[in-house]
Amino acid sequence: MVAVQLAIPFSSPSFPLASPARACQKKPMRVLGIESSCDETAAAIIDDGRLLSDVVASQIATHRPYGGVVPELASRKHLTNILPVVEAALAEAGISLGDLDGVAATQGPGLVGALLVGLQFGKALARGRGLPFVGVNHLHGHLLAARIVAEGVPRPEYPFMALVASGGHTAIFEVRSDFDITCLGSTRDDAAGEAYDKVAKLLGLGYPGGPIVDRLAATAGPALSLPMALKERRSYEFSFSGIKTAVAQHVAKLGRRPTEEETAEICRGFQAAVVEVLVRKLTLAARERQVPRIVLAGGVAANKGLRRRAAEVAAELELELFVPPFSRCTDNGAMIAYVGYLHLARGDRHGFELAPRASWPLGIPGLN
Ligand code: KG4
Ligand code: ZN
Repeated sequence: MVAVQLAIPFSSPSFPLASPARACQKKPMRVLGIESSCDETAAAIIDDGRLLSDVVASQIATHRPYGGVVPELASRKHLTNILPVVEAALAEAGISLGDLDGVAATQGPGLVGALLVGLQFGKALARGRGLPFVGVNHLHGHLLAARIVAEGVPRPEYPFMALVASGGHTAIFEVRSDFDITCLGSTRDDAAGEAYDKVAKLLGLGYPGGPIVDRLAATAGPALSLPMALKERRSYEFSFSGIKTAVAQHVAKLGRRPTEEETAEICRGFQAAVVEVLVRKLTLAARERQVPRIVLAGGVAANKGLRRRAAEVAAELELELFVPPFSRCTDNGAMIAYVGYLHLARGDRHGFELAPRASWPLGIPGLN
């Protein structure tokens, strides 16, 4: 099996070292992308910007009993998943290792122990096959996921205004080209997905909370009125810790576990407030900066209420709206392979000493 070669340590004299000449001459086209920043082990193949395969091994079952991601368990799971996931991505694309022109892996931001698995695997594979390698910013991946070329999926032209809302991040970015990205504002405290997960935990709904709250919020009935910080402020900053506290106080005041109907009422109110502030700030940014199209990205972009409200407001304001398919909103390898392809195509090469980055802000002058 191809995979056996990967177990050979760097120090092995029989290890086929990369030839720099070969790496420079070849035009990168077919790129393997690996994602392991949190609780999904994912790999995908992109051929000249077009998606050939996309495989994700979810760790939800592993972390569910703990109500959140346990970093040590995530790293161990990545270790056991990485090889089968990469092999599945190659098989789904109908290619073998010899057909690859480059390798990309998420370098950060994320859990260092988790990142290390995908990053080291990617570097080892690139070194073993004599291929160029790049580390990719996970947020850059989310931002450009809508640009991946795939059958029947419309892709936005540049420039676009994008909201990245996930478990770890919530920010608005003005994207003028593949690498011309400016962060206009981000959350001061919790990320939107984190708030969803915490509220779900508080209500005893299980993990991950986002999809469960989304489903309950879609049911008919009254919605609890909840405050949304910074909603009126003409800034692109967010704050989600206040709404989470408001839900906690509401539940504490009840003095008992909310009934099913009360839980649904809280979910409706929570989702309405969060969605409104996300859509309002994104569209405000697009109008103020005269950018004609908006993009939703990150795990929270899988939210049906957010998609619906964004479509309504976009239509009112005559903005074009683009949202990647559900599987490319949550963490995936396709977005990493795509950004890796863009890096490699413009000649970027990273050395094998590249280290993971727990924190890696994107689009903030002086910081990247
Ligand atoms: O992008 P992602 O897969 O991982 C990070 O980079 O964080 O996002 C995961 C987050 C979780 O907080 C999850 O609850 C949230 O995305 N999420 C949702 C939905 N699906 C996933 N939040 C709201 N509604 C959803 N349908
Ligand atoms: Zn993510």
